[in-house]
Amino acid sequence: MENFIFQNPTKLIFGKGMIARLATEIPVGVKIMVTFGGGSVKKNGVYEQVTAALAGRDYIEFWGIEPNPKIETLRKAVAQCKREGVDFLLSVGGGSVLDGTKLIAAAVRYDGDAWDLVRDGSLIGEILPFGDVMTLPATASEMNRNAVISSIETKEKYGMKVDYPRFSILDPQTTFSLPKYQRAAGMADTFIHVMEQYMTVTGQSPLMDRWSEGILQTLVEIAPRVLEEPHDYDTMADYMLCATMGLNGFIAMGVTEDWATHQIGHELTAINGLTHGHTLAIVFPGLLKVLRDQKMAKILQYGERVWGITEGSDEERATRTIDATERFFRSLGLQTRLHEVGIGEDTICEIERRFNERGVAFGEGHNVTGTVARRILEEVK
Ligand code: NZQ
Ligand code: ZN
Repeated sequence: MENFIFQNPTKLIFGKGMIARLATEIPVGVKIMVTFGGGSVKKNGVYEQVTAALAGRDYIEFWGIEPNPKIETLRKAVAQCKREGVDFLLSVGGGSVLDGTKLIAAAVRYDGDAWDLVRDGSLIGEILPFGDVMTLPATASEMNRNAVISSIETKEKYGMKVDYPRFSILDPQTTFSLPKYQRAAGMADTFIHVMEQYMTVTGQSPLMDRWSEGILQTLVEIAPRVLEEPHDYDTMADYMLCATMGLNGFIAMGVTEDWATHQIGHELTAINGLTHGHTLAIVFPGLLKVLRDQKMAKILQYGERVWGITEGSDEERATRTIDATERFFRSLGLQTRLHEVGIGEDTICEIERRFNERGVAFGEGHNVTGTVARRILEEVK
């Protein structure tokens, strides 16, 4: 096991009717900006619950943080916060609204352009406190300090570290209105978050391995119900908790991480606009094929423990495990090949070019360069 420091300060407030807790969780006397996406919260009753809980508070609303939050939009929110003396932020929506809110929180006390902070985290100084009502189980942004911010102008998308939410309110009932595609993409995202922290080397921590496998097995078990019975409270509660536990640091203690699938996926979104979780469902099976030898021992462990694949040679079991993984994503209704989502050779070339130009080498083996990214994407053309 590797050395690690673990501290996760987010207060998780989970369950039916918990949005009302906003009334007591937000400190008194602060000027609040409430941030929203495109309006889903007005159709599912979340907006009414939030405004009821904020009755009598001094707050303003900022609407329009889009999926894959754009710096061009966030700059407007930062300017408004500065103008109006906002000192607390409340995000209401999915991971994009919360990630955008994290960037706003970091930029309000910064004098330069907010994009500087995305490119150079060392410039982040004072960060406004923030909390959230999370309505989409996927990113675990509700219990981590990550934000992923995009630029329309440059067609770039980068992850950064900001800060943890003070509190996160998760009422599974808010997810009942999620479109099927968002549920599928959210489950794929959660599945790959676990994989990024698990599918590396064996033998570092049997405990971390089994926690990860527990989340993967739970997702496989509940996926058909999440797709077909999205109004079942207990199913959606399990799904929501899987998503939070997938990327809140609890399964990463002392183990090696990968994250190459995410880096390639971010480029697919930046260049083509494809939904985050969907990009991962395409890239990950290709990555397993290309890095099969490097990851062989873990692929076999995963195949046995999650898919019950125990018969045959190592090579046969690895092949069946990778196939089972791709079949799982397809069972969610997601296409797993680039041509099926209209992505072609030009995008592969551009990703290879960008990675080579940036001189990156992602993954636990520090070997996913532009050239290897090309091979991965060619596997899933
Ligand atoms: O904008 P509104 O109208 O609210 O609609 C949203 C949006 O169109 C809708 N939605 C959200 N909750 C809903 C709902 N519709 C009906 N009912 C509800 N309860 O869903 C659409 C997608 O929302 P979005 O927030 O974009 O999805 P998600 O939560 O998957 O976030 C994706 C973003 O998070 C980043 C991704 O790269 C992407 O930019 N990630 C953030 C991470 C983190 N902070 O740790 C890690 C992830 O790996 C990921 O990279
Ligand atoms: Zn993700």
